[in-house]
Amino acid sequence: MKSRKLGSAGLEVSAIGYGAMGAHIGYGASDVEGAAKTVHRAYELGVTLFDTAEMYGWGENEKFLGKAVHGFRDDIKIATKFGFVQDPTGGWNMELNSTPENIRKVAEASLVRLGVDHIDLFYQHRPDPNVPIEDVAGTVGDLIQEGKVGYFGMSEVGENLLRRANAVRQVSALQTEYSIFERDAEVLFPVLAELGIGFVPYSPLGRGFLTGQTKPAAEYDQTDIRSMDPRWQPGNYEKNLDAVQKLSALAQAKGGTVAQLALAWLLAQGENIVPIPGTRNANRVAENAGAAEFDLNAEDLAAISEILPKGGFGARYIKEFMPEWD
Ligand SMILES: NC(=O)c1ccc[n+]([C@@H]2O[C@H](COP(=O)([O-])OP(=O)(O)OC[C@H]3O[C@@H](n4cnc5c(N)ncnc54)[C@H](OP(=O)(O)O)[C@@H]3O)[C@@H](O)[C@H]2O)c1
Repeated sequence: MKSRKLGSAGLEVSAIGYGAMGAHIGYGASDVEGAAKTVHRAYELGVTLFDTAEMYGWGENEKFLGKAVHGFRDDIKIATKFGFVQDPTGGWNMELNSTPENIRKVAEASLVRLGVDHIDLFYQHRPDPNVPIEDVAGTVGDLIQEGKVGYFGMSEVGENLLRRANAVRQVSALQTEYSIFERDAEVLFPVLAELGIGFVPYSPLGRGFLTGQTKPAAEYDQTDIRSMDPRWQPGNYEKNLDAVQKLSALAQAKGGTVAQLALAWLLAQGENIVPIPGTRNANRVAENAGAAEFDLNAEDLAAISEILPKGGFGARYIKEFMPEWD
């Protein structure tokens, strides 16, 4: 597996990472056993960046990941996130809390749940409008000084917050949704280059749409985010399916799969980019890791642009959950 630098502070990881969220939330029934086998397979394939968050199962996903990587923890980098507060009703109406006290509290709890003595990459999951970003960057900076955290990351922020945070503590990675379907993040590429910040596209397979293995929204149960995702709703779904079929034909003509083409497309958008596809299936993780060797030439990139010049059809979140960048 090739490696890539994430930002200018020294973090280096495999070109393709792994997202652990689906083991507990987002994609229907959890499959912890399948996901543990998948994490092991990912490591054998050379994957060295493993992504989780406090919010994924409220600690359960961190506990799972810490256990799964226990035998090879020192060979890999673990990323986790702070900043959401659990909805007391168990729903999705979560508040935000990035006070210095809460960041420290989550860091200590994450260390215990992961069973590690440091978190390699600590992201703010979403900005907190009640806490100046300088205080957030300062607190994570203190945790770095204390050796509890390796590098600072941010998720779903715009240029203003990136600049302000980076002025206090070097930001190593921005994590935002980005894929052949979702191009909004491209407006931030110049500032990421200027400030030496790496980019980690989340949901790089368009939440699974860009694998061809999908079905209409109504066929998913309500615990699956795709049941409400605008891209799966009638009207958008058919257009997205048509585009993915065209992308699949392109991938097959080059001896690969559409998932590999989608990940290789991301790698081709910049040397500072490390996607973190999520799967609970060991065969699929091998397919996804194979994207690091799936080269796309200028002609392939042009053909992809022709199929989806501006991304897929439908927003990436319903209105209530759509992040607003500052
Ligand atoms: N910062 C944030 O706010 C944020 C938000 C969302 C996600 N994330 C992170 O990003 C990671 C990845 O995003 P994601 O999981 O939402 O979306 P994704 O990686 O785009 O897609 C995941 C979906 O694709 C399926 N899949 C993966 N590889 C496949 C393959 N080769 N063939 C067929 N199906 C495949 C998975 O199903 P199976 O598991 O059944 O294979 C799952 O349903 C997460 O795990 C999480 O760590 C961060």
